[in-house]
Amino acid sequence: MTTYRAAVCVQIGKALEIQMKPVVTEIEDDQVQVSTHASVVNNADIERCRGQRDDAPGVPFVPGAVAAGIVLAVGEHVTNVKVGDRVVALNYDKLGGMAEQIVVSKDRVFPVPESLNLSQAAGSIVAYSTSMSALEKKARVQKGDFVLVSGASGATGLAIAETAKNIYECQVIAVCRGQQKHDFLLERGFDRVIDRTKGNMVDTVLEMTGGQGVATAVDVVGGDMLIDCLH
Ligand SMILES: NC(=O)c1ccc[n+]([C@@H]2O[C@H](COP(=O)([O-])OP(=O)(O)OC[C@H]3O[C@@H](n4cnc5c(N)ncnc54)[C@H](OP(=O)(O)O)[C@@H]3O)[C@@H](O)[C@H]2O)c1
Repeated sequence: MTTYRAAVCVQIGKALEIQMKPVVTEIEDDQVQVSTHASVVNNADIERCRGQRDDAPGVPFVPGAVAAGIVLAVGEHVTNVKVGDRVVALNYDKLGGMAEQIVVSKDRVFPVPESLNLSQAAGSIVAYSTSMSALEKKARVQKGDFVLVSGASGATGLAIAETAKNIYECQVIAVCRGQQKHDFLLERGFDRVIDRTKGNMVDTVLEMTGGQGVATAVDVVGGDMLIDCLH
């Protein structure tokens, strides 16, 4: 029997255990089988393995909402990817990404563009898909909206700011602390950058927006920043 290795949560709060699993030889019509080259540890994975989330499956389970790799097999009804494609799977409900192979539904699998390697694809899909969900489904941003993003030089803030600017064509106001981060954001192509250590952020935002303020503020920092965003 051919096998693959998987990291298994066998007991809540304990280290994952490497186990051999039998390779799946028959997949359903709408499924894709992927040979995993890169997975990631997200905060949610840690919380599930610690028993801190309600959406954790019962033990034993293989954590990991993300797996990037090469398509090994596709079901008869799969048209979005084919055998040999480089893909990233976002299997946020069934998990299983921390394994050498994963079988997922076709609507959880996305082709990886040439410009990204598989580690980059695995490492970025949660932040960028969360950004799209927040901006489109929650904030319902429109083209041309002023969108303020705090912590914009950080991992999540940068994903949100880039998504707002490049996908939804919003006018992004990127907020950070310090000259180095300010310069970094200018280099990334943002033309409205506020260094929060200099001057009053709310006044600067009103100045940049001709007194109207922003349509949406996405805050990844909290505390005083959230209070300022509400102004
Ligand atoms: N929902 C999701 O998919 C998702 C994914 C990843 C992260 N998150 C959440 O998003 C938040 C940010 O995570 P991240 O990975 O983007 O973190 P990060 O890369 O460290 O960025 C956080 C940013 O917050 C700013 N900040 C302000 N006050 C801070 C303080 N006292 N200590 C540290 N940073 C401070 C920093 O920018 P300045 O110094 O320029 O202000 C920093 O760049 C976390 O709450 C995380 O749990 C959510």
